Amino acid sequence: MYEAAEIGKGVFWVGAIDWDIREFHGYTTNRGTTYNAYLIKGEKTALVDTVKAAFFPEMISRIKSIQDPKKIDYLIMNHLEMDHSGAIPSFKELAPNAQIVATDYGSKGLLKHFPHDWPVQEVKTGHELSLGGKTLKFLEAYMLHWPDSMFTYLLEDSILFSNDGFGQHYASFQRFDDDDGHFEGIMEEAAKYFANILMPLAPLIPPLLKKVEKMRIPIEIIAPSHGIIWRSHTNHIINSYVEWSTGVAQDRVLIIYDTMWGSTETMAKAISEGLGKARVEHKLLRLRTNHYSDVVREILTSKIVVIGSPTINEGIFPSVAQLLSYLKGLHPLKKKGVAFGSYGWGGEAIEAINSEMRASGIEVVEPGLGVVYVPMNRDIEACLQLGERIASLLNN
Ligand code: FEO
Repeated sequence: MYEAAEIGKGVFWVGAIDWDIREFHGYTTNRGTTYNAYLIKGEKTALVDTVKAAFFPEMISRIKSIQDPKKIDYLIMNHLEMDHSGAIPSFKELAPNAQIVATDYGSKGLLKHFPHDWPVQEVKTGHELSLGGKTLKFLEAYMLHWPDSMFTYLLEDSILFSNDGFGQHYASFQRFDDDDGHFEGIMEEAAKYFANILMPLAPLIPPLLKKVEKMRIPIEIIAPSHGIIWRSHTNHIINSYVEWSTGVAQDRVLIIYDTMWGSTETMAKAISEGLGKARVEHKLLRLRTNHYSDVVREILTSKIVVIGSPTINEGIFPSVAQLLSYLKGLHPLKKKGVAFGSYGWGGEAIEAINSEMRASGIEVVEPGLGVVYVPMNRDIEACLQLGERIASLLNN
């Protein structure tokens, strides 16, 4: 029933589309995802990655539309995580002679996922594997985002199989970035993917891209393991990765907050008015209506975060605390931060937000603004002025 899609001469997408997934280890996937596997046919045949276990029948059906799976000679395992390796045991039952190729970490980790006696051919950066008419070259991508991660490059067709790198959780019947009507959506999902998965590992990305540059391999197509394949915007996505991994952001402010009885929200709106008066691009994101995994995508491309919480139980409101805890792991680069919030008596949330922001690597640029109970006229004025001061930071 399922068909393979040819993405280059003798190179086929044989993955699976997961229209239904809405959560991926704590990150919302509102547009679903795909698990991309690729079949490369030279004199010998290689399968690059498999799919999540439950999608094995779909992958095999696509493979069977062009090739007997038993006759696959190699399985290139670019990454061990279960969304790409889950179908390996079923695949090996069907194609027991397919030689698994992986990094040293991939080989060791495979045993810890699936106890087995499959021989694994270990490869390192620069190693090549000839399929006869098609040559694969490997590039270890240590910690991007697991120790075992690897890119595979197809020399004759200039295709980089980048696994999670450059991926997006985006389910579609379309395969390419230049197919109609979805470029904005895939860039949004690529940024969300980067923010949630790769942001803490950002310092490793420029050296890896340099390595690729030094290998002098032209890249016509980037075929990731999730979402859409890049062929018309390869430079655009590579440049976006360079920017995201070095903390380049827009002159944009995010006001991220939650509220109990509306006072912190009133403050957020007054700060917004101050920013608006200074004509600064900004957004208000209330945390009970915006998932933290979407909020971090917005943080990736903004220079300043203004974080507001009422004080509750001598601390931060739970939804705000959750975001701050997540941010400590992500460690966003080159961000400035300001805290605010209303309180009844203690007001501990302001200092707690400051402390959490510092722990995330965010530069705290104001002591923070607290308001007792409900903002009165002079409090509103203070929030407006805070908005204007934050606006002036963008010029400094
Ligand atoms: Fe790291 Fe798509 O798995």
